[in-house]
Amino acid sequence: MPSERIYNFSAGPSVLPLGVLERAASEMTNYRGSGMSVMEMSHRSQVYLTIFEKTKGDLKRLLAVPDTHEILFMQGGATFQFSAVPLNLIGKTGVADYAVTGSFSAAAMKEAKKYGTIRIAATTEATNHTVIPEQRDLKVLPDASYFYYCANNTIYGTEWKYTPDTGEVPIVTDMSSNILSKPLDISKYGIIFAGVQKNMAPAGMAVVIIDKSLLGGELPYTPKIMSYSAAASSDSMLNTPPCYTIYMLGLVLEWLEENGGVAQMERLKAAKAAVLYDFLDSSRLFRGCAEATARSDMNVTFRTPNEELDAKFVKEAAAAGLCNLKGHRSVGGMRASIYNAMPPEGVGALADFMARFERENG
Ligand SMILES: Cc1ncc(COP(=O)(O)O)c(C=O)c1O
Repeated sequence: MPSERIYNFSAGPSVLPLGVLERAASEMTNYRGSGMSVMEMSHRSQVYLTIFEKTKGDLKRLLAVPDTHEILFMQGGATFQFSAVPLNLIGKTGVADYAVTGSFSAAAMKEAKKYGTIRIAATTEATNHTVIPEQRDLKVLPDASYFYYCANNTIYGTEWKYTPDTGEVPIVTDMSSNILSKPLDISKYGIIFAGVQKNMAPAGMAVVIIDKSLLGGELPYTPKIMSYSAAASSDSMLNTPPCYTIYMLGLVLEWLEENGGVAQMERLKAAKAAVLYDFLDSSRLFRGCAEATARSDMNVTFRTPNEELDAKFVKEAAAAGLCNLKGHRSVGGMRASIYNAMPPEGVGALADFMARFERENG
């Protein structure tokens, strides 16, 4: 076991800020004089409700969520939302338009097909998902109940750099791997959802930010536990919520605020990603997987000329304390996930290591 903390480039669950982990550790057995761990508290108790309300309020403020939108905490991760979205929204017209730019949007579309007619608004399959469609490539028709896209493709390392214009059609977006990395105009979105295990908290929950005007359109057979209106009317306490995950999210949001909020995260992520992409652009050994215009600032995907060298790189990097750089099993290669909590020093250490590996193996 390493005695020092490693640089953890895992795509999710992912690195959390060290200060957050230390704070949680110091409060583990006795939360601020309550004599209990947060894990041991009733979710209806005043001490816990104070944590819950502050977390929700901090998220609202940090992401500038307008009063037109509700914040929900729902269990089941992001995948739960692949079903919840159509169950709650597709009843309006029976039709929805999906952009398929990677595995998670394809999985969401497959799930939605159980509940209505799904049209492909755009697909990047022909390029093996190395690009992002441009606005002019999107086919969103006015009778769609909603338009769906995945804002950051964690596996392929591509990211939408713009919010699509869909006219009156509400936008639903999966921001699991880039939420809180930049300021957003929430009013443009019908639903933003995100599994928390990358930029927000330990796994076990999704944050859903929903335009209140979309509440109440569930298909009649929608399980109550998947109903956005039931979640909203119970303030995300239809049943016992993932109390500890919400507490951890609260600590991460405090850390985010102390570190300049989402505006500062945006500056930092751009600088961190540039270190790796600049290196890749001038490398003779490594090449980036995504097209330059579509590159994600959160998940940097790259390869060497062959799989053996990829495996050698991943192994030697891990031995140097640069861990979890293996690409997703469906695509191979390498992936450096550099979420908010990855310090610039970690990215610098990776770039230095890549340069050394190139000298030794190029
Ligand atoms: C963009 C995106 N959507 C959805 C998921 C699935 O998340 P979960 O495991 O929380 O269901 C992931 C997981 O990595 C993801 O990166």
